[in-house]
Amino acid sequence: MKRRDFIKAPLIVAGTAMLGKVGMISGFSGIAHAALPVEPMGIPNIALNNGITIPQFGFGTWTLTGDTAVKSVRAAIEHGYRLFDTAQAYRNEAQVWQGIKESGIARKDVFITSKIWTSNMRNPPQRTSIDRSIELLGSDYIDLFMIHWPVKERIRETWETMEEYVKKGLIRSIGFSNFNPHHIDALLQYAKVKPVVNQIEIHPYHTQEPNVAATRGYDIAAQSWSPLAQGKVLHEKVILDIGKKYNKSAAQVVLRWHIERGLIVIPRSKNPAHIAENIRIFDFELSESDMAAISGLNRNTSTIGADPDNFSW
Ligand SMILES: NC(=O)c1ccc[n+]([C@@H]2O[C@H](COP(=O)([O-])OP(=O)(O)OC[C@H]3O[C@@H](n4cnc5c(N)ncnc54)[C@H](OP(=O)(O)O)[C@@H]3O)[C@@H](O)[C@H]2O)c1
Repeated sequence: MKRRDFIKAPLIVAGTAMLGKVGMISGFSGIAHAALPVEPMGIPNIALNNGITIPQFGFGTWTLTGDTAVKSVRAAIEHGYRLFDTAQAYRNEAQVWQGIKESGIARKDVFITSKIWTSNMRNPPQRTSIDRSIELLGSDYIDLFMIHWPVKERIRETWETMEEYVKKGLIRSIGFSNFNPHHIDALLQYAKVKPVVNQIEIHPYHTQEPNVAATRGYDIAAQSWSPLAQGKVLHEKVILDIGKKYNKSAAQVVLRWHIERGLIVIPRSKNPAHIAENIRIFDFELSESDMAAISGLNRNTSTIGADPDNFSW
């Protein structure tokens, strides 16, 4: 399927940019799904392989702690963000929940993602830390819970524990982060609950086409972490020049590049102006040559030196 075909439907919806409108979107696997509701600001929803929908755009919270985390989440909700990405390792699950609660938004109107940290995978029972995540995130349910890093010898045990929570209704969907195709292959040999998302490092310096294609080949959605390469790509002339054409910032151009690749994207910011700016990406469209020029910045390098087959944390 051509990229244009993939983005056509969400763009029609985005053009209307209205709360409560309904439109068609092609799924991450290229399958057209039935009409899905659209989030505020024209954010498309993506249907996961279990039928649950996830906003294609959301808010990252790594390094946001204390009051900064609470205020940033509140600001994000005010600006229309509905997907929030936290993790045990970020030590801010309670603050993310506090921000959501203080905003007054209904629980059903937000999508919360968290992840089990490596040390909690290595120190069973994994239930202890999962119970704690649920408690910190409002004690009701978590929309999507992921294995944060593929701790080889603990993946199966952790996955099977996570499946119990899906059966109990305390976690709606499960997935993983930083999985290479061989990790996915191995997990699918025993998984009874199908993974829905693989969250991996994707930005213009690390475009990850093979891993994204492989992930989608398993009918699993790909989600971009560090989508702005932690701000490091924002000085690139190629990106700034494209921004001038559309009267958009470098960050908006890069985030739009993720959207047009069909990726779920979760930029982080503690700056209210950036929080407002980053979500305003559903009113323009990059050309094929813009997309190619941004992808041309690829160096196959991780911003944090992350290697899922060899990590020390
Ligand atoms: N699964 C994993 O292993 C993993 C790893 C890393 C990250 N993640 C997730 O992915 C999320 C996003 O990644 P990230 O936090 O590493 O970094 P990022 O979103 O790529 O970049 C964040 C940086 O960009 C700056 N920024 C944001 N918007 C901007 C704008 N409009 N103009 C200029 N600068 C801007 C922010 O500064 P200001 O605050 O000043 O705006 C911050 O320094 C994380 O927060 C986390 O939820 C997951």
